[in-house]
Amino acid sequence: MIDSSNRLMVLNHPLVAHKMAHLRDASTKPTEFRQLVRELAAIETYEALRDARVEEVTVRTPLADASCARIPADSITVVPILRAGLGMLEGALDMVPSALVGHVGMERDEETHEAHPYYAKLPSRIVDGTALLVDPMLATGGSAIAALQYLRDAGVRDVRFLVLVAAPEGVRAVLDADPDVRIWTCALDDGLNENAYILPGLGDAGDRIFGTL
Ligand code: PRP
Ligand code: URA
Repeated sequence: MIDSSNRLMVLNHPLVAHKMAHLRDASTKPTEFRQLVRELAAIETYEALRDARVEEVTVRTPLADASCARIPADSITVVPILRAGLGMLEGALDMVPSALVGHVGMERDEETHEAHPYYAKLPSRIVDGTALLVDPMLATGGSAIAALQYLRDAGVRDVRFLVLVAAPEGVRAVLDADPDVRIWTCALDDGLNENAYILPGLGDAGDRIFGTL
């Protein structure tokens, strides 16, 4: 069992499956690949904010007062893990245009597969709200664990990690390393190959988003 604590959510929806089929296809070009990553990120953001904090407000319609709810200003921060996470940023912002944005740069050493931070900048209000950490790929979990540790050290308590493709090894490593994080993924794949790439996966997400093949 990967997740005995119900902290892994695998999206199960025909639209997600349809878009994932195009995303995985090796013949999909960067323009379409980017668009699919953006759309899937929007759907995932919608799911991950199901229990987001809201405040009661009264809105005057053309006819009467209406009791409504809205997401408090500055309560959501999207944090893409550079570089491939940038592909998911616009999709998350499509759902929450008022969100703040932080950045965490993690690079995997292709030999050791270890992740090293090379850049980070967070808005100060992030600590009071919800952080959506976004990265299309969760392989060994090294990048995610390092990014999560950075957020925890910065004082962020509510972190929701959104990925498109996850390997069981990475999911287990992240859930073990961080007892509070929850993970949303569009697909849970079979495992990793000898180069720590996800199988069947979709290849190198950053290269496919930015055309650096
Ligand atoms: C990819 C991906 C994740 C990481 C996943 O980034 O976007 O950040 O690998 O692998 P892991 O779970 O084993 O750490 P990469 O390091 O290739 O950098 P990029 O975003 O610049 O392409
Ligand atoms: N990073 C990617 O972009 N793809 C993988 O399969 C593993 C890590």
